[in-house]
Amino acid sequence: MDNDNPIGIFDSGIGGLTVARAIHKRLPAERLIYFGDTAHLPYGDKSAAAIQAYSIKITDILIREGCKLIVIACNSASSAAYELLREYSGSKAKIINVIDPMVDYVSEKFSGKSVGLIGTRQTIQSNIYLQKLLSKDPEADLISLATPLLVPMIEEGFMHDKISRDIISEYLGYEAFCNISSLILGCTHYPLIKDEIEDYYSGKVEALDSSEIVAAHLHKYLQENQMESNIRKGENKFFVSDYTASFEALTRMFFGEEIHLEKFRLWE
Ligand code: DGL
Repeated sequence: MDNDNPIGIFDSGIGGLTVARAIHKRLPAERLIYFGDTAHLPYGDKSAAAIQAYSIKITDILIREGCKLIVIACNSASSAAYELLREYSGSKAKIINVIDPMVDYVSEKFSGKSVGLIGTRQTIQSNIYLQKLLSKDPEADLISLATPLLVPMIEEGFMHDKISRDIISEYLGYEAFCNISSLILGCTHYPLIKDEIEDYYSGKVEALDSSEIVAAHLHKYLQENQMESNIRKGENKFFVSDYTASFEALTRMFFGEEIHLEKFRLWE
């Protein structure tokens, strides 16, 4: 495998663009191929079996595109399909998920402290964050809450307004969260409301955004394995399994710049 080969990144939709953005900023010489499975969004309310089937299909496409490494930029897919994808891709492409780098970070920085987690139903019900944290620190104290309204709220553009403030305070008013020191944003859409969440806590609780942490982890992995590209060969590509103009309009919000989405026929 050539170091100039691209890095694949996938998500159920465009939330994973927050991770792609952090990777692009940190590693501008890497060519990215992004796949948003907008035809099957949201993953957060799907069964693990359905998420696994979609994830295998997308991984296949990214391997065929020559990706040297694949980042699962979705907590729901990371919790339901990571082990399966690792086995499936074997030596063809290394798979990185968004949960392990966050677990490493939290167990290092917040050991002995109570930590909150918000995410989709799939991510929370899988209990994966707690299992992984406990394997690093048997005393880990994680309090989890599914917050399914946040993804549609963000996609509909309700941010920094009364609706978003009301929904956020309804969720974060959860009694068990009263002593948390930090809050894991366990969904790749949530970086867009990170400041609103920190405002809710008046800066007393740190909201932990996985995009920067995953980009730093990826950078270290590429360096350690001599897989870094020196110069970007070709443009980044952004595929979606279903195209609508409204998805494209949202990309600026998630990626920080306007990008062109190309439709990829997933099942043909
Ligand atoms: N991006 C997904 C995640 O991180 C949330 C959106 C969805 O439910 O598909 O879990």
